[in-house]
Amino acid sequence: AAGPDPAITEQQPWRTMLGEGVDARPYGAPSQYEAHVVRRNVEWLTADPISSVNFTPLHELEGIITPNGLCFERHHGGIAEIDPAKHRLMINGLVDTPLVFTMADLMRFPRENRVYFLECAANSGMEWRGAQLNGCQYTHGMIHNLVYTGIPLKYLLDEAGVRTNGKWILPEGGDAAGMTRSIPIEKAMEDCLVAFKMNGEALRPEQGYPLRLVVPGWEGNMWVKWLRRIEVGDEPWHHREETSKYTDLLAGGKARRFTWVMDAKSVITNPSPQAPITHGRGPAVLSGVAWSGRGTIPRVDVTIDGGKNWYQARMDGPSFDKSMHRFYFEFDWDGSPLLLQSRAHDSTGYVQPTKDELRAFRGYESIYHNNGIQTWYVNEKGEAENVEVS
Ligand code: MTE
Ligand code: CO
Repeated sequence: AAGPDPAITEQQPWRTMLGEGVDARPYGAPSQYEAHVVRRNVEWLTADPISSVNFTPLHELEGIITPNGLCFERHHGGIAEIDPAKHRLMINGLVDTPLVFTMADLMRFPRENRVYFLECAANSGMEWRGAQLNGCQYTHGMIHNLVYTGIPLKYLLDEAGVRTNGKWILPEGGDAAGMTRSIPIEKAMEDCLVAFKMNGEALRPEQGYPLRLVVPGWEGNMWVKWLRRIEVGDEPWHHREETSKYTDLLAGGKARRFTWVMDAKSVITNPSPQAPITHGRGPAVLSGVAWSGRGTIPRVDVTIDGGKNWYQARMDGPSFDKSMHRFYFEFDWDGSPLLLQSRAHDSTGYVQPTKDELRAFRGYESIYHNNGIQTWYVNEKGEAENVEVS
């Protein structure tokens, strides 16, 4: 160093006085110096914040678990502030015994803890026709990854007794939007949870307090929040969210429907437009996340020159089925411009496609299910920008 370091030689205020006592913060919050680490929305995207979305600050996070206060929010009719004492879960339709559960009733069923990602089908939707938003928070932040505690939905359906012609369920939200989606009974019985905790504590109001449906690996909109009713039927209901919305318009005017599974995807979170390289040339750490609705992520490839050379990234941290995975790539930055990309491989052998490969068979009219490879351009100063290379 050139001279004395004031961070060492000068007396800092926190060394000269006693700090706050143990009860000053009964519910803890991050340091005041982390105040920039927040969910953010894109104001021009929607007409009103009541039916809108904000985004998880992926570039500020490490590991695989999203902190509860930073989970992106997507509401169609605002947040329902539900009193759990007045909340009921009804199961009706093609069942032997229609049932109504209080929260206390539900606490008597066996529960399980599982880690899953939830990704909105519209995540990266604004990027379909070309690079648009500057930051992985905005391009990829409609995702969170949490430890859920919940009751396997199968136990509740078995309690009601699904009739042999019961082939679909219709979960319904208790919010003003009354979100509904048709889900095949096989999925409901296989791995869906009626969750009441996230990362060990009660669901946040934003995430569906006191109950939300967990539909592992499938589109976020099916994970009905503020869950109040599950109807069993013999065919799908063809409601708004599976006809006008959450369908993928193809080039010829036809639309794909019931595209439930979220395919393998990855993104480099650092460096990225909101997280430039600030240390100059020399050793650099590239960090990113990858996930698949079909299994685990055994491998991610990374390129720093726009795809001329690919390297296998270092997977790190726990690997759970249908959960987020963390990868790293350590490299020596020579100070020249970079084109960063990552490419996920999932446990079924599926490889994340380029955006052009997706457009080749999906056309240009899509919003949902954009799992194409993301590119960040990094200039000599270390500043990053959202671009596309072909
Ligand atoms: N459930 C209800 N009841 N109301 C809603 O508006 N939004 C859906 C889904 N469940 C929604 C809902 C959509 S589109 C998504 S992507 C996820 O919840 C978002 O979950 P989150 O707010 O926990 O991120
Ligand atoms: Co959504």
